[in-house]
Amino acid sequence: MKGFEGRIALVTGSGQGIGEAIAKRLALGGAFVVLNDVVPQRVEDAAAKIAPEGRADYFVSDIATKEGAEKLMGYAREKYGRVDILVNNAGIAKDRYLTKMSDEEWEEVIRVNLSSQFFTCRAAGRIMMEQKYGRIINIASRAWLGGPGQANYSASKGGVVSLTRTLALEMGKFQITSNVVAPGLIDTPLYRQLKPEVQERLAKTVPVGRVGTSEEVADSVAFFADDDAGYLNGQVLYVCGGRSVGSY
Ligand SMILES: NC(=O)c1ccc[n+]([C@@H]2O[C@H](COP(=O)([O-])OP(=O)(O)OC[C@H]3O[C@@H](n4cnc5c(N)ncnc54)[C@H](O)[C@@H]3O)[C@@H](O)[C@H]2O)c1
Repeated sequence: MKGFEGRIALVTGSGQGIGEAIAKRLALGGAFVVLNDVVPQRVEDAAAKIAPEGRADYFVSDIATKEGAEKLMGYAREKYGRVDILVNNAGIAKDRYLTKMSDEEWEEVIRVNLSSQFFTCRAAGRIMMEQKYGRIINIASRAWLGGPGQANYSASKGGVVSLTRTLALEMGKFQITSNVVAPGLIDTPLYRQLKPEVQERLAKTVPVGRVGTSEEVADSVAFFADDDAGYLNGQVLYVCGGRSVGSY
């Protein structure tokens, strides 16, 4: 495949974990990457780590607000003139069984995981339609299929899949592709929030017998971000060791 040399890429929530690995993968492949996070020190450090090997800049904003999402897009457009690749990675989890889940836990997860992607896709879509080029990769989760204690998280990720499939239909004619990467259990700070015994029990449910790495997710994002990936549109790619197939 051709790659993405010289493309301008934005990766939300890239101060750590999967987003950081995606930013690094795209930068090492020749893209100019604007990292983003709501935690300033985190994203500053992540961009500095990439900088010796690739081209990386950063912009601090809360993309779960319309203002934060539009400021990020405005920054990239003003400074670099284009937005070629948008990776919507920022996300949170607030797990609790449905009958105990608060209104706030529901609303915050929907806002950060789903509304954020509406805000960024809308703002980036306007730029990409003018350019007649774009690669949108939205990070969902295998949990969009459903997960106990995850009514808010699963619903938000199911919304990401539906949003992305709709973008694929609306924007394909502008040579903008929209796809989903749906990770399974990936070893990141988010995953390490789980109690060790829960991590161990979950790892045993993965057909390949282990949790995945952020780099493995980043490789799938790079696949969709490629200049040559113009005929891949509206797809969901699971990176979950086979866990999406069923119980094991
Ligand atoms: N780790 C897993 O097992 C796993 C599995 C499936 C899906 N995912 C998804 O992958 C994505 C990344 O997960 P991770 O495990 O790397 O998480 P993480 O918590 O380790 O990192 C997420 C980053 O996003 C940032 N962020 C959160 N809200 C933000 C906002 N409003 N604006 C800007 N930045 C924000 C955080 O500050 C953090 O640096 C998420 O969408 C998550 O749902 C993770």
